[in-house]
Amino acid sequence: MINILVTGANGQLGSELKRISEDNIIQFEKTINFVFTDIDTLNMSDSTLIHNFFQEHTFDYVINCAAYTNVDLAETDKENAYNVNATCVKNIAEAINNQKLSTEQAGAKFIHISTDYVFDGSSNIPYTEEMLTNPKSVYGSSKLDGEKFALENDNSIVIRTSWLYSSYGKNFAKTIHKLCQERESLNVIFDQIGTPTYAYDLALVILQIVKQSINENNFIPGVYHFSNEGVCSWYDFAKIIANNTNSECEINPIESKDYPTPVKRPFYSVLNKSKIKSTYNIKIPHWQDSLNEFFKIVS
Ligand SMILES: NC(=O)c1ccc[n+]([C@@H]2O[C@H](COP(=O)([O-])OP(=O)(O)OC[C@H]3O[C@@H](n4cnc5c(N)ncnc54)[C@H](OP(=O)(O)O)[C@@H]3O)[C@@H](O)[C@H]2O)c1
Repeated sequence: MINILVTGANGQLGSELKRISEDNIIQFEKTINFVFTDIDTLNMSDSTLIHNFFQEHTFDYVINCAAYTNVDLAETDKENAYNVNATCVKNIAEAINNQKLSTEQAGAKFIHISTDYVFDGSSNIPYTEEMLTNPKSVYGSSKLDGEKFALENDNSIVIRTSWLYSSYGKNFAKTIHKLCQERESLNVIFDQIGTPTYAYDLALVILQIVKQSINENNFIPGVYHFSNEGVCSWYDFAKIIANNTNSECEINPIESKDYPTPVKRPFYSVLNKSKIKSTYNIKIPHWQDSLNEFFKIVS
């Protein structure tokens, strides 16, 4: 029996992991026992609670999907953002280490999720894992601290992703989809470039890594980048969503300067995914193909 803890399980990514596990989309050769928790059942900012929880339960894998993801609010709610994005990760990494010491066993393998916001967006080539980080927001800095805590554990994988969306939770794709049916026109930024990531695809890859780790002992710690394939602007993304809603809603391109937000978004967020593709031998769908899969659920 392999025990897998998924924290922050009610969010977009956690919900996709739950869907894949319930539908048996990835077939494991061993029996898998998933434990899904969120803030109401396992508040990870409570270090004593986490310590005790790990003394009482043993896990082979911990997948941390919990995060403080409100990028703008984080600027004024700094303490909470750091608490969730950094301290919670520290608590998990320490709990895994303590368990390892007390049981003298290998301890859980840790998969933690991070973000393109650890970069400043000034690149004009896709970001590799080795490129210099330079977060420009509280959210980005808190996530970078979280990465460092996760990597203090020598059995950790950190996966940075970008522009995450899903049929669960709140996200750009769902918002545009809804607004297209309510409005005659929408203004959307065209000068920020990145790649959407369907949370389902990321969840699949996480479980493929777990499967390869179980079957082939292929679990290589370190940082990896993952998004869907291709590149677009928010405007392009919105335009394809609008076309899929069969609405008459017109999508107008605007510049970032005409849509001020508390946090300036990175102009360039494209991630280079060569490392994850070669290490785990995975194929990644193009973002438009994954968006079509999303529409099968949302439309
Ligand atoms: N969303 C994006 O566009 C995006 C882009 C790049 C990277 N990422 C990263 O991808 C990962 C998954 O993101 P997501 O969009 O699935 O996030 P999400 O939908 O915001 O889900 C995060 C979950 O964590 C829970 N949580 C918050 N504080 C917690 C605590 N102290 N203990 C336990 N659970 C707690 C949240 O509960 P509440 O809702 O009650 O707070 C929520 O259910 C995150 O690491 C995020 O930083 C996201």
